[in-house]
Amino acid sequence: MNAVRREYEAIKASDAYYTVSMLEPDDFAFWRGKARQLVQCGIPPDKVSWTEPGSSGDLFAGAGTQLPVPPAEAAPIRGSKRFLALARNAVLHSDPQRFALLYALLWRLQSNPRIMEDKTDPQVRQAEELDKNVRRDSHKMHAFVRFRRVERDDGSEHYVAWFEPDHHIVRANAGFFKRRFANMQWSILTPKGCIHWDGKTMRESPPAERGDAPGSDPVEALWRKYYASIFNPARLKVGAMMSEMPKKYWKNMPEAELIPDLIAGAQARESRMVDAGALDFGNRPDTLAGVNAAIQQCRQCPIGCNATQAVMGEGEASSCHDVTAKLMIIGEQPGDQEDVAGRPFVGPAGQVLDKYLAQAGIDRTRVYCTNAVKHFKFRPRGKQRIHQTPTAKEIDTCRWWLESERAIVKPRVILALGASAARGVLGKTVSVSQVRGQSMPLDDGSELWVTVHPSYLLRLEGGVKSEQERLFAADLTEVKRRLDALVRNG
Ligand code: URA
Repeated sequence: MNAVRREYEAIKASDAYYTVSMLEPDDFAFWRGKARQLVQCGIPPDKVSWTEPGSSGDLFAGAGTQLPVPPAEAAPIRGSKRFLALARNAVLHSDPQRFALLYALLWRLQSNPRIMEDKTDPQVRQAEELDKNVRRDSHKMHAFVRFRRVERDDGSEHYVAWFEPDHHIVRANAGFFKRRFANMQWSILTPKGCIHWDGKTMRESPPAERGDAPGSDPVEALWRKYYASIFNPARLKVGAMMSEMPKKYWKNMPEAELIPDLIAGAQARESRMVDAGALDFGNRPDTLAGVNAAIQQCRQCPIGCNATQAVMGEGEASSCHDVTAKLMIIGEQPGDQEDVAGRPFVGPAGQVLDKYLAQAGIDRTRVYCTNAVKHFKFRPRGKQRIHQTPTAKEIDTCRWWLESERAIVKPRVILALGASAARGVLGKTVSVSQVRGQSMPLDDGSELWVTVHPSYLLRLEGGVKSEQERLFAADLTEVKRRLDALVRNG
C-alpha cells in the first residue's frame, strides 16, 4: 500500500469531522468541487458540516479538519444529469440544510445510480421541493421586477428596481435581465445582493434596503393606465391570480393598487366581452406609438419573457399623421437580429426581401413592414438563439396588435409572407401554395396577397431554389401591378 493509499484508508476509518465553509450562498461550482473531493476521499455525509457564508455554523464548525486530497486512483464520481440539473438550482435555495442534503444524495448516487428516479425517496423529494421553490422564485422575479426611472446628474437615465427574492436567485438570473434589457442601464436591488448593468458589463454589490430604491416615477402613471386597459376580465380567476402574484410583491408593482377596483369591475367587462364574442385586451391604442408602448409590456403569451424587446412595425411616416402606407408587408416574427435592433426585417431574410422588392420596383421606404408576432421566439443552443415557429395560439393572441396596426395604417394591400403571417391576418390557417398569386378581399376593404417567407428561399438549394425565387419575384411583381392600379384609380 503506498503512502497516499494508506492515508486514504486512515481517513475512511477515522472519526475526523470536516467543515466546508461556502464562500457564497449560491456557488454551485464551489459546492460541486468540494462535494466531489469528499466523495472521492470516502467521507460520508454524517462526517461533514456545510456552513453558509456569514453563518456562525453548527456545533462542530471550526472543529473541522482540513479537507484531504483524493488519492489518484479514487473512483470517478457518478452523477446523473437529472441530479446535476436539480442540484444546480437547489443550491440557490435559502434552506441552510441544502448543501448537506445534496451531498447526501451525491454520496448515495455512487452506490445507487438510479436513486433520482425513486419518487418516494424522502431525500429526492426534498431536493425536488427545493428545486421547485427556486424555479418559482425565479419566475416571480422575471414577472414582477418593475424598474423605476432615475435621472442622473449628467442627465442620463438609469432604471432601478427593488425585489425581495425568497432564495439566492439574483446572480443566477442576471443573464435573463441582461438579455431582456440589454440597451438600458439598470440596477436590481435586493436584500440578497444587487446587480447592475451599464450596457456593457454586469457588476454586483452587497445587499440593499428598500429605501435605497426610488418609490415611483412618472412612467408608472402611464403603466397603470396601460395595465388597466389590458387587464382581461375574461381571464380573471381571483384565486389563481393571488397565488401567481402573491401580495408580497404588490408593494413594488405600480399596477397593484388598481387590482381591487379592477376585480370589482371585471364582471361587468366580462359580460360585455362575451357579448362582443371577442378576445379583447381593452381599448385599442389609436397611435402606432401607443401600440408600441403596449406591445413592449404585453405578456399575454410567454414569448415576450425571453425576447430582448417587442419589435414594432415601421414604415413611411407623414409629419401630421401616422404611417399611411398603401402596402403593408407582414412577416412571421422578428428574428435574432431584429430582436436586438428593435426593427423588422433587418437581418438575412430582410436582405432577401429588399432585393426582390427593389427588383419588383417597390420602394421599401414607402411600405409599412411588420410581423404577425411581435416578440422573437427562440430556443437557446449554446450562445445561439434558434428560431422557433410561433404556435397558432400565439399568432392569434398577437393578432390583436396586428389588427391595431392595420386600423391605424389602413393599407390598401397586405402582403403576407408565409403561413404564420397569413394566419395573423385571416385568423385561420391557409395553405400558401393554394392561395398565393391571388387577391383575397378583407372585411375592411383592403386585399390580402400571400406568398412564401423570404427565409424559405434562404433554406433552399439548386433547381428548387431558383424556381421558388422566380415564383417569389412573380408574386411581388403582381402585387406591384395591383398597387399601381389602385393608385391610378384613386
Ligand atoms: N423574419 C420575419 O418574419 N420578420 C422579421 O422581421 C425578420 C425575419
